[in-house]
Amino acid sequence: MAQQASTSHTPNEHIVLRPPTSQNIASLRRLNSLLLPINYPKSFYNDILASPTTTRLTRLAVWLHSVPPADPPPTDGGGGGDGDPEAQQQQQEDPGVTVGGVRCRLELPPPPPPPPPQEVVEGEADGEGAGGEEQIQTGGAIYIMTLCTLSPYRHLGVGTRLVASVLRAAVELGCKEVYAHVWEANTEALEWYRRRGFDVDTGEVVKGYYSKLRPAGARVVRRRIGVGDAIAFAAKVDGDGEGEGEGEGEGEGLGGLEGLEG
Ligand SMILES: CC(C)(COP(=O)(O)OP(=O)(O)OC[C@H]1O[C@@H](n2cnc3c(N)ncnc32)[C@H](O)[C@@H]1OP(=O)(O)O)[C@@H](O)C(=O)NCCC(=O)NCCS
Repeated sequence: MAQQASTSHTPNEHIVLRPPTSQNIASLRRLNSLLLPINYPKSFYNDILASPTTTRLTRLAVWLHSVPPADPPPTDGGGGGDGDPEAQQQQQEDPGVTVGGVRCRLELPPPPPPPPPQEVVEGEADGEGAGGEEQIQTGGAIYIMTLCTLSPYRHLGVGTRLVASVLRAAVELGCKEVYAHVWEANTEALEWYRRRGFDVDTGEVVKGYYSKLRPAGARVVRRRIGVGDAIAFAAKVDGDGEGEGEGEGEGEGLGGLEGLEG
């Protein structure tokens, strides 16, 4: 088991995580272009809003000028996006400043080979169980494609909250791991991931990953999603019913990330 963080901080009330919308997505693009060594095309951002899953796996950290009420009404726990009236309302009241963001991709495992014809039971074809319910245990992985915080807003818990939102999504989606590429010379970011339970030592180094940087390699950092994450996440949900969206309690109770979400 990888090392877990143990420090705790008081959450910064000015920072909220918001789902991406057509109104705020340009601010995520500007932030990433400013801070990251890879320039992602417009389609990278259009794809976020086109897919509910990718919308769920993308969050903007917004610095609010005014502090929201201590006990905001519970949100719908959903993917947000343009249809989220609460997020829209809050955004109109105080659009805030986008100071961080994460954008991920869900990677599904290859589908199992189809069973021999005699084993197909009526009602269980096409991935449906006997009750025809959607299968949510994907067994896949979440790949963190971009994660960054604007320099003056670092060390306030923004990055921790963003990564915790990803871990939470991993639990919800039944994923087995979360992983990312980190520039091999970025010891600060590698240590940062290590302190959040990622294994940074055994992952492969992908040579030439960052064409603009020297050295150009990227270290793959991985964090397994375990039963402890599922229990911590469930405890959080059962404890106060807090869901996703505006002011979401990302990171709380998530495998050593509690209290670090800022
Ligand atoms: C890596 C990165 C995302 C971290 O972002 P961040 O917002 O500064 O992260 P956090 O604030 O959550 O954590 C930084 C430190 O502040 C501390 N901190 C957290 N909440 C705090 C609070 N409320 N008050 C004071 N300090 C706090 C954390 O404990 C942490 O220290 P630790 O790692 O020793 O535990 C940021 O440095 C960055 O954008 N780097 C450039 C891009 C990059 O490298 N991305 C990663 C590769 S994908």
